[in-house]
Amino acid sequence: MTDISETLSNLLSENRHFFPPVELAINANAKIESYQEADEDRLRFWAKQARRLQWASNWTQVLDWTDAPFARWFVDGKLNVAVNCVDRHVTAGNGDRVAYHWEGETGETRTITYADLLREVSKTANALLELGIGEGDRVAIYLPMIPEAVFALLACARIGAVTSVIFGGFSSEALRSRIIDASAKLVITSDGQYRRGKALPLKDAVDEAVEQTPSIEHVLVVRRTGGEVAWNARDLWWHDVVERQSTVHTAKAFDAEHPLFILYTSGTTGTPKGILHTTGGYLVQAAYTHHAVFDLKPETDVYWCTADIGWVTGHTYVVYGPLANGATSVLYEGTPDTPHRGRWWEIVEKYRVSLFYTAPTAIRACMKWGDEHPDRFDLSSLRILGSVGEPINPEAWMWYREVIGHDRCPIVDTWWQTETGAIMISPLPGVTTCKPGSAMRPLPGIGAAILDEQGKRVGRGHGGYLVLTEPWPSMLRGIWGDEERFRNGYWSRFPGKYFAGDGAKWDDEGAIWLLGRVDDVMNISGHRISTTEVEHALVSHPAVAEAAVVSSSDPLTGQAIVAFVILRSGFEDGDDMATMLRAHVVHEIGPIAKPRQIMVVPELPKTRSGKIMRRLLRDIAENRAIGDVTTLADPTIMNMIAQGLASGMPED
Ligand code: WTA
Repeated sequence: MTDISETLSNLLSENRHFFPPVELAINANAKIESYQEADEDRLRFWAKQARRLQWASNWTQVLDWTDAPFARWFVDGKLNVAVNCVDRHVTAGNGDRVAYHWEGETGETRTITYADLLREVSKTANALLELGIGEGDRVAIYLPMIPEAVFALLACARIGAVTSVIFGGFSSEALRSRIIDASAKLVITSDGQYRRGKALPLKDAVDEAVEQTPSIEHVLVVRRTGGEVAWNARDLWWHDVVERQSTVHTAKAFDAEHPLFILYTSGTTGTPKGILHTTGGYLVQAAYTHHAVFDLKPETDVYWCTADIGWVTGHTYVVYGPLANGATSVLYEGTPDTPHRGRWWEIVEKYRVSLFYTAPTAIRACMKWGDEHPDRFDLSSLRILGSVGEPINPEAWMWYREVIGHDRCPIVDTWWQTETGAIMISPLPGVTTCKPGSAMRPLPGIGAAILDEQGKRVGRGHGGYLVLTEPWPSMLRGIWGDEERFRNGYWSRFPGKYFAGDGAKWDDEGAIWLLGRVDDVMNISGHRISTTEVEHALVSHPAVAEAAVVSSSDPLTGQAIVAFVILRSGFEDGDDMATMLRAHVVHEIGPIAKPRQIMVVPELPKTRSGKIMRRLLRDIAENRAIGDVTTLADPTIMNMIAQGLASGMPED
């Protein structure tokens, strides 16, 4: 946590306060009493939230924690996620309400009401059954942000199949390893996807991946771009299989602990972990947090979360949370700067978006592009702004508030993780007095603490490791196929408590400031990537003997990847070496893991026991004076590296 201390001292001199708007406070979904109510009886509080959903059978116990860290919430309760997200709104007479205003990157649009959604999800569910997908089977989804992605998720939930969404920016290699880990039977993909105005292939990557995945029986392909695709015996067109299905499907209820989805995320080793979420508790917390943190008024609000469905934010706050609450959402396929840098704000104006949720990296990009882009559009419909994915720096927070929110809209800085399933620490927009850059306090019903090295709680004015002290409904139920990693990774550092991997600090007023990861996980534009994963990708190239990866701070992406590599003999460092290695990492993992810089070095700094001293490499990556080298096996190495770099190493 060395490089955190400087940021920290800047942050803690932050003493601006922003009060909730009076009208919002008066009409807020969540009032200050919720904290007290939850403190008095946490389980009763969650049981009350669970009644937002439609249960086919009631639970007999709110929480069973006897087999900790494996929780069971709403024991014996039964429900269907798709029925809760779709059918019940139609039954309640809201079939004509828009569920999604879909906006394609190329400008076409599609309006999907709850009644439309019911038909599409039922057809898709019938198609999956025809393809032999049953309860508990895993379905891999590798799609752009098109309505079929939502239909696919809900159809799987409807028939009790388990989804594993793989972000469309991951490579075929990453897709392959995730399909194998979950033994998926089906992949749902599209011919291609639009990115910055261009049609790019997508199915190609699936074809490459499934050559080595014996569990896959079919590939179901949505036609999106109309681009040429190779065709294999296992391939089926969505429009051939789904369109002819009945629009009626009778859903059965599943146990509250029936698996709902697996989502892979980076840990501290080279292998991503499949985070497992289940049905009842997950949907309860998704619905409650969306209701409380975004203050959703389903009849009047238009909500937009810009996250991709490939990440947990896309699961919980594009699909499950908003739909469970009967929200009207925007679903956008494209990027914020295509065809122009005001595209997002144009969409806000067009649909009168009132609740907007995005990531700090995007806010910083918009800030860099200049105020003239948002200033061209009418943003007066906005009510609440949200942020997620990484700590938001006070400067970006203030810009978001002033330029996008016109100084009227509270900002909810929401801390959570793939593992937590839903928001854990965040202001409540009608209650909390916010400070720029702080996620403020745990939500009602959530227990968090900050511990020192010895596991003792620290108080106001002190920092340490963030832990969650009580089980919560949408908590992960494990890592797919790896019980030990689940226990060791999250529950062993501080026994009985969930260790999140983040550093945090209480300020003097009792607000929480998140300080970034304390492990070897990097956060690049809000995407988690482990240093080891990138190192593995680099050493899998024939030219690389050894690699060490560190993160360096970056004004736009928060952190950026910097790699130090030693070449094998016979390979020379030349102008194209770094370019080639970067391309190799993209091939192995995907563009999100592309190193900003690759430095070829003669040696790496190691301790006597052979451990790479990343701290020293970070000093170089950040152009700082190099720290204490006394524990190095060979203290002259840092000079060698620095000299080598000074004598014309390429800065790619
Ligand atoms: C970081 C994304 C500070 C944190 C929902 C966490 C944040 C990791 C915030 C999880 C925030 C997320 N402030 N840091 N508001 N939100 N993080 O699994 O380091 O993709 O551990 O889930 O992102 O990333 P993940």
